[in-house]
Amino acid sequence: MKSILVTGGAGFIGSAYVLMARRLGFRVINLDALTYSGNMDNLESLSDDPHHIFVHGRIGDAQLVQDLLEKYAPDYVVNFAAESHVDRSIVDPDTFVRTNVLETSIFLRVVKTWWESVHFDSIKKKDFRFLHVSTDEVFGTLQVGDAAFTEETPFAPNSPYSASKAASDHFVRAFYETYGFPTLITNCSNNYGPRQFPEKLIPLVTLNACAGKSLPIYGTGENIRDWLHVEDHCEAIQLVLEKGRIGETYVIGGNSERTNLEVVKNICRTLDELRPLENGSYEDLIHFVSDRLGHDLRYAINCSKLQSELGFLPKHNFEDGLKNTIQWYLQNNEWVLNVQNGDYRKWIQMNYTERTE
Ligand code: NAD
Ligand code: DAU
Repeated sequence: MKSILVTGGAGFIGSAYVLMARRLGFRVINLDALTYSGNMDNLESLSDDPHHIFVHGRIGDAQLVQDLLEKYAPDYVVNFAAESHVDRSIVDPDTFVRTNVLETSIFLRVVKTWWESVHFDSIKKKDFRFLHVSTDEVFGTLQVGDAAFTEETPFAPNSPYSASKAASDHFVRAFYETYGFPTLITNCSNNYGPRQFPEKLIPLVTLNACAGKSLPIYGTGENIRDWLHVEDHCEAIQLVLEKGRIGETYVIGGNSERTNLEVVKNICRTLDELRPLENGSYEDLIHFVSDRLGHDLRYAINCSKLQSELGFLPKHNFEDGLKNTIQWYLQNNEWVLNVQNGDYRKWIQMNYTERTE
């Protein structure tokens, strides 16, 4: 049985990846710090699974990581662990530097040192791969009509979050160039799907609408994101992990560019159908609020490299995937109530009460 050390596997994308990896028959060692967005409820279906080994800890804890590598000798490492929310990075950049830059660099060094110590002609050493999960935000922003991002697009991050992810990508690349450490990088567009922490647009708007609260749209709502279902993202990661060329980067996207206003109106229409109000439409709850600082206008991905080299095609169509996601939130009230705790309420109050209409 091959094993994968997954970091950040209690978060939104990491947990979807862990569930997929177990379905594929990999043993998973899951290292997660359980920050505000890490959630053991995401892994509930694996609670009795002896091949899912959960470890509560940080990627920057060098001794812990070294012990795990020596104990479990993983075939692969997939690094999801990160601070992931742009708005939080605007309020508190230091936390992003700590996890996404410093701890990622420590993690790389410890894994690289362990990999060097593995017997030089063993299969484990030859086939080992370290995949770093990153974001399209490292490329900065596009204008409407610009060509989509590719692997060749220069980095131009605009937020503390994307700057910290860009730095981590540079470290991963440097470990390949300097030490020959077998790395891969993926830069993906916006994910959606079940179990996304409701600070992000789609779950936030869905849950606010259900509670009769206002639906905050930053600026004019004309900003464009390219949406990809989280399960498609996980499949792409697995393709790159097993078949990608060492040292390469692959961009991943969903070919589903939508303005934020289109996405929010789509959520409202879906809720009008699934849970109609007595009077009016959920669209009546839409409010335009002051914009995100440094708000990137548009992201778009040209994933022809991933398509032509590895045959990747997203399976989910955005409108169906969004409807299923909304249904998941409506059916998983306990999950929702558990994440809407004191910390969550504090963040919502901090981020939204100061925003003027
Ligand atoms: P998330 O915030 O839901 O999950 C992050 C997870 O990492 C949490 O479980 C958290 O506890 C854990 N974590 C944070 N700091 C840690 C540390 N120091 N050590 C160990 N674990 C730690 O984020 P997500 O949306 O699932 O994103 C996962 C990864 O994918 C991130 O690297 C993010 O940059 C990248 N990404 C996200 C998207 C998206 O749309 N959400 C798109 C492209 C790339
Ligand atoms: O592009 C990939 C990135 O997508 C990932 O790297 C990030 O981890 C992930 O959080 C996501 O970043 P965004 O900033 O694009 O996602 P978010 O859901 O926060 O916002 C999506 C868009 O919606 C963005 O243009 C801002 C806008 N927005 C967001 C919120 C939370 C609003 O208009 N109102 C809101 O309340």
